[in-house]
Amino acid sequence: MTRAREADSATRPILELIGATKSYQGAHALSQVDFDLAAGEVHALVGENGAGKSTLCKALAGAIPLSAGEMRLDGRPVAFASPGEALAHGIAMVYQETSLVAGMSVAQNLELGRERFFNSLRQLNVRAQQTLQSLNFDIDPTLPVALLGAAQRQMVEIARAVVADARIIIFDEPTASLSPEETQTFFDLVRRLRRKGLSIVFISHALEEALTLADRITVLRDGQKVVCDAARRFDRDRLVRAMVGRDQDAGTARRPARIRAGEPREKVLEVENVVGANLVQNMSFSVYAGEVTGMAGLVGSGRTEIAQIIAGVQKRRVLYGGMIYLRGRPVRYRVPRQAINDGIVYVTEDRKVNGFFETMNAADNIYLGWLATRLGRRALISPAERRRIGAEWAGRVNIRALSEDATINEMSGGNQQKVVIAKSLVQKPRLVIFDEPTKGVDVGTIPQIHGLIRELADSGVAVLVISSYLPEILALSDRILVAQQGRIAEEFSPEDATEEKIMFAAVH
Ligand SMILES: Nc1ncnc2c1ncn2[C@@H]1O[C@H](COP(=O)(O)OP(=O)(O)OP(=O)(O)O)[C@@H](O)[C@H]1O
Ligand SMILES: [Mg+2]
Repeated sequence: MTRAREADSATRPILELIGATKSYQGAHALSQVDFDLAAGEVHALVGENGAGKSTLCKALAGAIPLSAGEMRLDGRPVAFASPGEALAHGIAMVYQETSLVAGMSVAQNLELGRERFFNSLRQLNVRAQQTLQSLNFDIDPTLPVALLGAAQRQMVEIARAVVADARIIIFDEPTASLSPEETQTFFDLVRRLRRKGLSIVFISHALEEALTLADRITVLRDGQKVVCDAARRFDRDRLVRAMVGRDQDAGTARRPARIRAGEPREKVLEVENVVGANLVQNMSFSVYAGEVTGMAGLVGSGRTEIAQIIAGVQKRRVLYGGMIYLRGRPVRYRVPRQAINDGIVYVTEDRKVNGFFETMNAADNIYLGWLATRLGRRALISPAERRRIGAEWAGRVNIRALSEDATINEMSGGNQQKVVIAKSLVQKPRLVIFDEPTKGVDVGTIPQIHGLIRELADSGVAVLVISSYLPEILALSDRILVAQQGRIAEEFSPEDATEEKIMFAAVH
């Protein structure tokens, strides 16, 4: 960075959007948005699902062209035809879905798309090692990316931006897949990048993150800028009001205790001393009809793996020991299809697991969920009926797209998650396992989804909710299990549980 730019960086923005508009088939994803980024600034973007946050970021990073409006870099008009062109101007973006190549090593990914010459693989690895070390990232550059966890993948993405000499880094929901500790590490890193003079734009649904990490916050609603102000002039209430355009209660009231001692309960699922996959050491727990069982625990405590073993997503041969009973009958599923036939549904943000059809619209995806459980009975329904079912569920989970026919890949991240949930609820399951059900969902819609999960339990379904978001566990659960290093370390009733107690059980 030159001295001249440093001197007036406080006053002049390095990157600006003026009247930015993006339309798809005549509908506005962004409408006349002004935005600016100062040197050495951390700028947060918040708003409901579908508000236009990702669209704005993609436009800044050259991933999509604007329909109208202007962009200026250092005061000069620019238009990027591709992300590569934006990167050549020092603008890098880290996407909601990772853009790394899973089969290649960390070092190869760092150099991807750059035509630099290395004499040997060793030289490439040494160079990558230097970069990673300079960022305090503890990652082996020779590992294939496929073996990395979410946090490490993100570190590689960040390292890649640094290798490319970016001075503006844009993050789309960077903390969504990170554990609380990893999130802290990420915050420290962002602060370090800021001290180096880099500018950061980041999107987050965790409003506390925007309030603590950002210098300024811009709120978008329905494709328009509502307000942009210094972060210290916001509090949570003001942010939520700006996002939804009205007052809104917190909505995550604690669930009253409903399990009474001595009352008979139908045990739907019993997991007995299961050892399996990489992380499940010795898991035992039960899930009952009409109840929500919450499972907390750190990333890596085996929560997701046990869910995938139960639902047949993990291959049968990874179950090394123990038993799983469905209403008293021993079960071991080879493929998810068999579990679905038995009324077990596993809901996760991993779209491959959910059998998502990205080029179909929401109604058709929901219909496929409906069909999945009724296929054997040859139940075909008319297109009109299909639409009705789809529309009804789209309303219940608050799916919002620019048009009713929008395909999944035309929908925003949070709205895709809502389709996943609707698709599973329509299957009339007996046991549902939700794995991080509200990840990426805006704060306004979370209470609505919680309402649906409770309704499901009230209708007699056995529900297991895995979540890292402790307010969610407390709001939903009739019983709370805490997983720790592949075991259930503790069980709480909702009256006894507090965030502190759960955290303590999860780490000790
Ligand atoms: N390729 C596309 N074709 C049609 N519509 C699109 C396309 N991409 C995005 N949209 C629409 O533009 C609007 C804004 O989407 P965007 O992804 O920017 O939302 P977002 O604020 O990032 O939401 P989220 O919090 O759910 O990620 C949404 O209504 C979305 O459906
Ligand atoms: Mg988005």
